[in-house]
Amino acid sequence: MKILAYHVQGYEEKAFKKWSEENGVQVDLEYGLITPESIEKAKGYDGITTQQVIPVKDEEIFKKMKEYGLTQVASRTAGVDMFDLKTARKYGISVTNVPRYSPNAIAELAVTHAMTLLRNIGHIRAAQFKGDFTWNKDLISKEIRSCTVGIIGTGRIGLTAATLFKGLGAKVIGFDEFKNPGADGILEYRDTVEALLEEADVVSLHLPLTDGTYHMINKDRIKHMKDHAILVNTGRGGLVNIDDVVEALESGKIKGAALDVLECETLYVNQKIDPKKIEGTVVETLMGMDNVVLTGHFAFFTETAVDNMVSTALDNLKVEIETGKVQNCMNA
Ligand code: NAI
Repeated sequence: MKILAYHVQGYEEKAFKKWSEENGVQVDLEYGLITPESIEKAKGYDGITTQQVIPVKDEEIFKKMKEYGLTQVASRTAGVDMFDLKTARKYGISVTNVPRYSPNAIAELAVTHAMTLLRNIGHIRAAQFKGDFTWNKDLISKEIRSCTVGIIGTGRIGLTAATLFKGLGAKVIGFDEFKNPGADGILEYRDTVEALLEEADVVSLHLPLTDGTYHMINKDRIKHMKDHAILVNTGRGGLVNIDDVVEALESGKIKGAALDVLECETLYVNQKIDPKKIEGTVVETLMGMDNVVLTGHFAFFTETAVDNMVSTALDNLKVEIETGKVQNCMNA
């Protein structure tokens, strides 16, 4: 069995080597994207995998895959919107995904973000740069065990975050349109988002972005938040109206915001950019605030998560090659 991996990132190499050795399967690494030209490199292989945001929609790609006897492209991602699923199906190609890779990766960053803001780390660092190391009364912080943490979206990641916060001694409350039976003993549900916001010192978002959740944190909802509460968003940028959040930060209504995701994140995520690119944008505004933590979609970026992304995608290929059964198919 021979597999060709496209668009391999340096941080994935170790995981490919590990899976290849453990499974006794040859995996060749290709650093370029899948394109109508580069797909020719897949001739003679039993399976291919990629992880790319650049579209894989050109019919020629799937036509050539069929010609080479390939029947699956295993994406090393959860979302597969970059593929033309219908055209792939037309040529008998299954597009598979990695449905979950590590809820802890994201939950741990949410906790890190909340604690960083709670302990005023941004303000402490800013003062230090000015030579001020004093125990200024504005820098005294609460302890998490004296706080209520509100988790909106109590699925895999939200419940993991709730468990971690609870472990640190916080009282945890939650809101979800469907209650998670596993939440018993970890969090208490509130019936509305507003009820949760009125009680929470830390609000952490763990929902998917849908028409129903778009800008769910906005001016009106912020009015319901406790004064000096902390907002953490590791879900999707579109869950918050960022202009409303900036206003609340500037007025002091909320104490701080930690944002792993932003609606305009394609401007900078996983890129080295010229600072001019963000001049005059909300990213520049946020970067200039000591009470903001901005991480460019790094929540998933742990060794365990990357290992799981690579191994699940390769497992998807191996199972199909050996048994003909397709698992995690997104275009059945
Ligand atoms: P999940 O599907 O296990 O949980 C999502 C929860 O949100 C569910 O319990 C669902 O009932 C709830 N929900 C959906 N719509 C709702 C609504 N309108 N009102 C109230 N609750 C609602 O998903 P999981 O794995 O926990 O992921 C959560 C989100 O985290 C993902 O959708 C994704 O946007 C984000 N994410 C962020 C990553 C990052 O690197 N920053 C990486 C992976 C996921």
